[in-house]
Amino acid sequence: MQRKIVVLNGCNLNLLGTREPETYGRDTLADIEALCRKTGEECEVEIEFFQTNFEGEMIEKIQSCRGNTSALVLNAAAWTHTSVAIRDAVTAIDVPLFEVHITNVHKRDAFRHHSFLSDVSVGVICGFGIQGYEYAIRKAALLTKS
Ligand code: DQA
Repeated sequence: MQRKIVVLNGCNLNLLGTREPETYGRDTLADIEALCRKTGEECEVEIEFFQTNFEGEMIEKIQSCRGNTSALVLNAAAWTHTSVAIRDAVTAIDVPLFEVHITNVHKRDAFRHHSFLSDVSVGVICGFGIQGYEYAIRKAALLTKS
């Protein structure tokens, strides 16, 4: 199987570029996708890129990765802090998870300090802007190399 890394983006991340730019910067989701695809080429892994504002759709996407995906890079956005259901979807499929956040969630509101995903992730990258996606893909590609 050609290695495939699936990059998943949760609610409101479609608004990047115009959403609270003082917090999230000016890069758009399309910029993130381009960065992920470039990194995938350099690491010789296939990249699938996905965003949804619907929690059930995210769960179905995660479930569909079972058996055909080397790693998940997930920015679950607000669901990080709220969703047992997304955590359960991740633990159900036995695919290594790399949690990403653009911002340093630990410097922000207290309700962002808890993640339902961190303890089921290989690692967490936060606070490095959109480069966090690149770092996660590079690490996931290294760890899944046979
Ligand atoms: C985020 C951080 C979350 O707390 C927030 O709800 C987001 C984006 C980030 O990438 O920094 O929507 O995941």
